[in-house]
Amino acid sequence: MAWQQLRVRVRSDQIEPLEQLILDYGGLSISYLDADDQPVFQKDPGSTQLWDLVDLVCLFEKEINLDKLLLLLQQHPAIEDKESLTLKTLEDQVWERSWMSDFKAMQFGERLWVCPSWQKPPEPNAVNIMLDPGLAFGSGSHATTSMCLQWLEKNIRDDIKVIDYGCGSGILAIAAALLGAAQVIAVDNDPQAITATIENAKRNNIPKGVIETYLPDQLPDNPAGLLSDILVANILAEPLMQLAEDLSHLVKPQGQIALSGLLAEQADGLLEHYGFWFEMDKAVMSEEWARLSGTRLN
Ligand SMILES: C[S@@+](CC[C@H](N)C(=O)[O-])C[C@H]1O[C@@H](n2cnc3c(N)ncnc32)[C@H](O)[C@@H]1O
Repeated sequence: MAWQQLRVRVRSDQIEPLEQLILDYGGLSISYLDADDQPVFQKDPGSTQLWDLVDLVCLFEKEINLDKLLLLLQQHPAIEDKESLTLKTLEDQVWERSWMSDFKAMQFGERLWVCPSWQKPPEPNAVNIMLDPGLAFGSGSHATTSMCLQWLEKNIRDDIKVIDYGCGSGILAIAAALLGAAQVIAVDNDPQAITATIENAKRNNIPKGVIETYLPDQLPDNPAGLLSDILVANILAEPLMQLAEDLSHLVKPQGQIALSGLLAEQADGLLEHYGFWFEMDKAVMSEEWARLSGTRLN
């Protein structure tokens, strides 16, 4: 079976009337794609933040005649860029599997690899995280995750206690456990991330009890019992700023912190803020992102 794919560029505040029109003409699905490579940040779990300019990608059955819809869209005042309107035929394929070819094994530092769970690890004797990217963030391909994995690969020592604050898929928590940490506490305010972390920990044969997962308000009351040797948090600049004092109370004196999820231009503000509790190192940059690290003052 083949399909028709219609694509059109539109400002995000103009999407609603177009969506209804597309559905009225038999649209089966409408995807939103970033038309302009603009970073946007999810403010709250479950909320959807859109780019200013969006490419709508709409799927129709092959038999449907779309001449009238194309004409209406050509004349629609919400579509400023008429040239962006295209229609093409898509041959059928196994859609659930088609993204898999883009996810390849990746190496971080000397001994750590993240491998798609359906592939044989290229280095069987390395520390291999077997991962299926699910709905939660964290496959290793994003610069912030990658910088955190590289830092963990260098800094995890055997038998230490680690906190992964904002665990997403659990990739950093699992890396810490596989690299030798004795106990890892994985925290996220999105229940889907907690589920993904538990699933991925099982898939990596992490012994029961090594990784514990918590929503932030479920964390045990006594911060002394939670004190970690290493805390890693790949969140965003704003929550990192707000959480700074709480996170600092979760790290032992002389313990280490690694932070990412912030843009390069946000590094100075966070370095200054965290400098109250930590001796901070120079920021490390990758693409437009930064990673900070530091050692807890006594
Ligand atoms: C960028 S993802 C990082 C996922 C993974 N640790 C990685 O490095 O790829 C950020 C995660 O932090 C979570 N998060 C954001 N704000 C948070 C907060 N205030 N408390 C706990 N988790 C938070 C999000 O739900 C998301 O799963």
